Amino acid sequence: MSAAATATTKVAPAAVPQPAARPGVPRHVGIIMDGNGRWATARGLPRAMGHKAGAEAARRAVEAAGEAGIGWLTLFAFSSENWQRPAEEVRDLTALMRHYLATEVDRLAKEGVRLRIIGERDRFGPETVRAIARAEQVTAGGTRLNLTVALSYGGRAEIAAAAREIARRAAAGTLDPETVDERLFEGFLGTAGMPDPDLIIRTSGEKRISNFLLWQAAYAEFVFQDVLWPDYGAPHLEAALGDFARRERRYGARAA
Ligand code: IPE
Ligand code: IPE
Ligand code: MG
Repeated sequence: MSAAATATTKVAPAAVPQPAARPGVPRHVGIIMDGNGRWATARGLPRAMGHKAGAEAARRAVEAAGEAGIGWLTLFAFSSENWQRPAEEVRDLTALMRHYLATEVDRLAKEGVRLRIIGERDRFGPETVRAIARAEQVTAGGTRLNLTVALSYGGRAEIAAAAREIARRAAAGTLDPETVDERLFEGFLGTAGMPDPDLIIRTSGEKRISNFLLWQAAYAEFVFQDVLWPDYGAPHLEAALGDFARRERRYGARAA
């Protein structure tokens, strides 16, 4: 399903649970989980082993985020551009995602985690699409942590899909172009109904956004950590949260 197709069912701000953030704790954290390949190479292992260890780190991060009182966690697991990698690596990553969905979903549901997938899920094929739909269904009642996994996700593709759907409706006469503003536009993104990320973390020492949550990150704070993703754990998340708590967010206005 394209982001726009997903968004059409979400335009009205639905009853999305909005867990209250604790003071100084970001409501929504996004993580660009980078460095699996380098982690494996450094150990003389195949890259697939790095991705497997990366999935373990994702499990730890979900647990640590819940314990830290974060209400929304978005993990960047596979970008629109990652399709350019060798077929073997794409196949390994897809298999790993399917395994994660099959083995983790019941535990997530039990722990009050609501799972959503954003991105062009159709590109993974019908079997994965079904597994994703089932996972979203089984975890739909979770209110402790909203976990979003970005799969075949690209910020530019998401924005283009929103523009396409808005143009379609305008052409069909069901949407007045004069009503298009930031709030309306947001409703057509895959993230419709979610709060914007307050903090975006990227591991592995790279300092770029790589097409993650482009629209949504307008006023996010960024923390870059030198750790490779498979080594990530609760202490790294705590350090990033500590850094975030010391930032002054002004949103273009002035401190009093
Ligand atoms: C992140 O690790 C996982 C994905 C992008 C799918 P990488 O595979 O990018 O690891 P490096 O950057 O090559 O070390
Ligand atoms: C970004 O990492 C995408 C994910 C973490 C899923 P990449 O490794 O694909 O990004 P670049 O190529 O270094 O920018
Ligand atoms: Mg990388």
